[in-house]
Amino acid sequence: DWTPGNVIADQIALIREQVGDSRVICGLSGGVDSSVAAALVQQAVGDQLTCVFVDHGLLRAGEVEQVERDFVAATGVKLVVMDEKQRFLAALAGHSDPETKRKIIGREFIRAFEQAARDIVADAGEHGGEVKFLVQGTLYPDVVESGGGEGTANIKSHHNVGGLPDDLQFSLVEPLRALFKDEVRAVGRELGVPEVIVARQPFPGPGLGIRIVGEITAERLEILRAADAIAREELTKAGLDDEIWQCPVVLLADVRSVGVQGDGRTYGHPIVLRPVSSEDAMTADWTRLPYDVLAIISTRITNEVKDVNRVVLDVTSKPPGTIEWE
Ligand code: XMP
Repeated sequence: DWTPGNVIADQIALIREQVGDSRVICGLSGGVDSSVAAALVQQAVGDQLTCVFVDHGLLRAGEVEQVERDFVAATGVKLVVMDEKQRFLAALAGHSDPETKRKIIGREFIRAFEQAARDIVADAGEHGGEVKFLVQGTLYPDVVESGGGEGTANIKSHHNVGGLPDDLQFSLVEPLRALFKDEVRAVGRELGVPEVIVARQPFPGPGLGIRIVGEITAERLEILRAADAIAREELTKAGLDDEIWQCPVVLLADVRSVGVQGDGRTYGHPIVLRPVSSEDAMTADWTRLPYDVLAIISTRITNEVKDVNRVVLDVTSKPPGTIEWE
């Protein structure tokens, strides 16, 4: 019988068997999947686990604070926050190909986890064993889309599946690898993960890095972060969060269009709104948002965000479009 309780019991036994008495780290992103994976591993091996939050600079506004406030408060996990903004920006400089960006981000995450593992061992002094295991919140659809299922094409190399470096030193612990998102949410609720996290809309590990079409720069990230915060605020205010699976906000950094603002000509960039409705992210339809909400978002973004003079709505289902633009 599939019940969240059975999944938890099975996975706890499997995790204990795999990990033994070794130390474990978990890459926490603040999203549903990694939070539920961390909570599960914590139940299985307690304080052998340290969670590592890598701030790669590709986060949305307020994200680090949310993890510290909600997840740590609810679970009491040990959390290490690493500021790796400069490392990621430097590694991504000059790259605009989506698969290349994901591979770089996947690799840099692992390099940061390796550093975290060394720090943990050093801090533990003579009591410290090696950190051999890395927990990831990989789901079944991530595996399928990365071409990991039998007879499946590689659509995107999700940063934590096909985007991992070849010289990976950790063994992976992926207790959610057979599950869909709604099942992960059920498991999370059963584990007592707070509703603010379990009900969160999906956000990809590579973050805003795959929502800037073109090269990633600090300035472009700031533009996108500001536009995204406005869209999220207005969608929440309009009570639409439950209707939407997720709403990527995308900056077309390599596209310019002419506008008129104040009393002058502008030559700025378009922002794309990509609201979708879905059951499992494998297929999706574009969400028919009310025009008045779209109007508020458009007006605010063009008024408040520097260098953006146009807001466009993506009305493509998946297939043929994917949810993210990259
Ligand atoms: P697509 O764009 O393939 O997205 O329709 C399906 C779901 O996966 C998320 N996504 C990712 N998540 N690493 C992640 O952790 C990735 O590289 C990645 N690419 C897409 C996307 O946000 C959507 O929920």
